[in-house]
Amino acid sequence: MSTNQLDKKSEAWSALFSEPMSELVKRYTASVFFDKRLWLADITGSLAHAEMLAAQGIIGADDRAAIERGMAQIRSEIEAGTFEWKLDLEDVHLNIEARLTQLVGDAGKRLHTGRSRNDQVATDVRLWLRSEIDLISDLLVELQTALVDVAEQNVEVILPGFTHLQVAQPVSFAHHLLAYVEMFARDAERLADVRRRTNRLPLGSAALAGTTYPLDRERVAVTLGMVDEQGNPQVCQNSLDGVSDRDFAIEFTAAASLCMVHISRFSEELILWMSQNFGFVKIADRFTTGSSIMPQKKNPDVPELARGKTGRVVGHLMGLITLMKGQPLAYNKDNQEDKEPLFDTVDTLKDTLRIFAEMVGGQLNPATGVKEGGITVNALAMEEAAKKGYATATDLADYLVKKGLPFRDAHETVAHAVKAATSHACDLSELPLAVLQGFNASIEKDVYECLSLRGSLNARNTLGGTAPAQVLSQIARHRTRLA
Ligand code: ARG
Repeated sequence: MSTNQLDKKSEAWSALFSEPMSELVKRYTASVFFDKRLWLADITGSLAHAEMLAAQGIIGADDRAAIERGMAQIRSEIEAGTFEWKLDLEDVHLNIEARLTQLVGDAGKRLHTGRSRNDQVATDVRLWLRSEIDLISDLLVELQTALVDVAEQNVEVILPGFTHLQVAQPVSFAHHLLAYVEMFARDAERLADVRRRTNRLPLGSAALAGTTYPLDRERVAVTLGMVDEQGNPQVCQNSLDGVSDRDFAIEFTAAASLCMVHISRFSEELILWMSQNFGFVKIADRFTTGSSIMPQKKNPDVPELARGKTGRVVGHLMGLITLMKGQPLAYNKDNQEDKEPLFDTVDTLKDTLRIFAEMVGGQLNPATGVKEGGITVNALAMEEAAKKGYATATDLADYLVKKGLPFRDAHETVAHAVKAATSHACDLSELPLAVLQGFNASIEKDVYECLSLRGSLNARNTLGGTAPAQVLSQIARHRTRLA
């Protein structure tokens, strides 16, 4: 290197290069305009590396101090928006290193001792993703809490439960919402698991084979918080794997895809429930849009977009997994392509979770301390819909079983009763006792209790069932878990 400053990328390599890159190749190979968002992780990783280099006597204490001073300046420049990112310097790593060298001279040039951009970038992405996982985990708690809040208000509200989108059995609306809470709870578990594997240190793998300097990798891991629950340093144990593995990013994107799939299923239900034909719920106007031509319309844009964005995140999963396929050990430039899908997955998931938590639970009114503007439930419409479609037919069959009929016979008997009710255009509970007794003589007056929606609900009092008593105990469990 001829000068103190790496103005051009070619100067970062060596004198070996006889011609400059064309503008097109520069643009094609550069990543700085998207990977600059790794800047804080890059600086954090470099500071930990420099601290260790000094502790091991590989660089001097004065060099380390100069590196810290330079990095502090760079940090404030980036935060102030005055840092000049150069396409010529390809990526975030070379941009920061070049500026460091410009600021502190030779100490800046010593920072890259015992490391390579290969282990550097792998470390940066892991550090960055780790903090994003923490933010996403918090958002998942917010969304689950919002769902539990709405559930708590609607334990006794009955809606038709569907199978095949045909009315099946009545369920508590709270029970229905808590099904999503279960899904998001598993998403949070998956993320916690991915976090453990993300939180391991590649730095010190150098380019691919390790390094000749006496590095203390575990010290760096501890400095960076890459430790397990017991505080043991977590270090990638094979240098070839350390620089080239991106399966933590693939795993994360898989977990994110599943979470988006859960959001998408919920979106689909909101969209159905909001339609005139259902009219079960309303979401606040700020999550909907009108139509430029049909003045009566309020379209559920947010749930629809979330359903659409799910495709995009699942696409990123396919992109990343295909990116890995066929790569020989160790690092290949292919891996630079991991960033945009990963970044977009994180951005999409975070925005979606944030917006859903607010759309479901409302926004805190600081004046009253109460959340406002969440989902509005039309309990009457739900209950009316549950009354259609013979939702308590199974209950009648169960009633007959308790009278001694084998279940298959009871099933058949009830089919006849439903047929009769259909031809009278009424519900099973509206058939006179004499008519019901015509199907089976053991039927008595108490049958009407089990034909009622509420009776049907109360009867499903097994663990995980929809009886209000069960639902209340699930709400209590979630409250403890989410506290
Ligand atoms: N920008 C590169 C990436 O994101 C950094 C690593 C480059 N390493 C290399 N040997 N060219 O993967």
